[in-house]
Amino acid sequence: MDNNYNEIDKSYVWHPLFQHQRLEETDLMVFKSAHGTTVVDEDGREYLDAYSALWNVNVGYGRKEIADAVYAQIQELPYYPHSQINVPATELAEQLAECLPGDLNHVYFCNSGSEANETAIKIARQYGRQTYPSENRYKIISRYRGYHGFTYGAMSATGQVRRKKAFEPLVPGFHHASPPYCYRCPLGLDYKSCNLACVDEIERIILSEGVETVIGVIAEPIIGGGGVIVPSDDYFPKLREICDKYGLLLILDEVITGFGRTGKMFACEHWEIQPDIITLAKGLTSGYIPLGACVTSSTVFNTFLGEPDENKEFAQVCTYGGHPVACAAGVANLKILQEERLWENAEKIGTYLLEKLKTLETLPNVGEVRGKGLMLAVEFINTDKTQLSTSDTNKIVGQLREKGLIVGKIGHAVDEPENIIYIAPPLILTETEAELIFNTLSEVLIQYNF
Ligand SMILES: Cc1ncc(COP(=O)(O)O)c(C=O)c1O
Repeated sequence: MDNNYNEIDKSYVWHPLFQHQRLEETDLMVFKSAHGTTVVDEDGREYLDAYSALWNVNVGYGRKEIADAVYAQIQELPYYPHSQINVPATELAEQLAECLPGDLNHVYFCNSGSEANETAIKIARQYGRQTYPSENRYKIISRYRGYHGFTYGAMSATGQVRRKKAFEPLVPGFHHASPPYCYRCPLGLDYKSCNLACVDEIERIILSEGVETVIGVIAEPIIGGGGVIVPSDDYFPKLREICDKYGLLLILDEVITGFGRTGKMFACEHWEIQPDIITLAKGLTSGYIPLGACVTSSTVFNTFLGEPDENKEFAQVCTYGGHPVACAAGVANLKILQEERLWENAEKIGTYLLEKLKTLETLPNVGEVRGKGLMLAVEFINTDKTQLSTSDTNKIVGQLREKGLIVGKIGHAVDEPENIIYIAPPLILTETEAELIFNTLSEVLIQYNF
């Protein structure tokens, strides 16, 4: 029997970030299968998925090894709470510790990026109480345009007004600084003569709030959904120094950037810095099964050690944290990433694609092409550098889709025209596929009259 899934869906499903009234005039796509970098809709039409679903299908679709690992684990032990040990979770934690930089070696598993950041924020606050008992350190600084998740703590750290304003008041103790968005510097300055004024702003907030009230800074190494904002190479080393100077934890949200996306296994390796806490999700299982993780250094972990009556243990439980099936998917996914050295392909093909896309900057409506590895963005402008309208950008995205190319687009983030598209394909992308992405985009941009 042929089902009209759009009709059924319209009656029963509530989609994220979506105005359902639009379903009066437009249908959503129904995806039925996928392989490699390709997704297939219900009519059998194939699309190159240049967004890896939601920045996450790093190893590509149809990896039988992951399916087999999941199937075997469900039969062996489908679930047991992580108050005890299960083998895939222990194996995955060991393997993560081995490939993460420095002494990031204690893994707290959860189910998503939001939960990983929620966990990091709570670990930071409890760490603050236990490390500085005579102070009141709980405040966390993040950046405008940054995204850290939809739960209350992670949302409070988020710097995107459209993801927050309907739900205010948020959790107290979160403060925001300017992002390192050099193309449209919020401070009106130019790199390098700015001397990293956006990092100085973070220091100023710390001092204005009172050092004895601040516990950490949370940041995406490259802001993802807020526009693919790549910091200059001196940004994170300077931020690390500031955190050290005031005894603060640096929390890096590598939910998008982790697992090869930017051309290194973890983005912090680009600048040879180690955070005190790193949060992971998306590429941890390449989206095959939900899984998140918050990993801390041994220094942070050790402050949670003590006698039972000291109550120093981390006061959080998560029913599905360390789920054996999800962790088995994680182990199989990591094996693929490492055996195929996919971060190297992301660096090679990403650099190739970025160089080609950069040539589009000569077009009147292309403002900036930017990114690292296979985390790229194109920002569209009007001829006076103002942002191209959301509707014109939507038309570009629609035309690309008609030509069989799916890209991402900034959405429900800042109160500005949504003029940035994202190109973040699976890390298995070939040079031929990179050319296809470039050719399709340039064809649309050259022909399109907006
Ligand atoms: C940088 C970053 N952090 C956290 C999250 C939240 O992850 P999740 O949607 O899995 O809760 C996202 C989601 O896109 C993200 O991009």
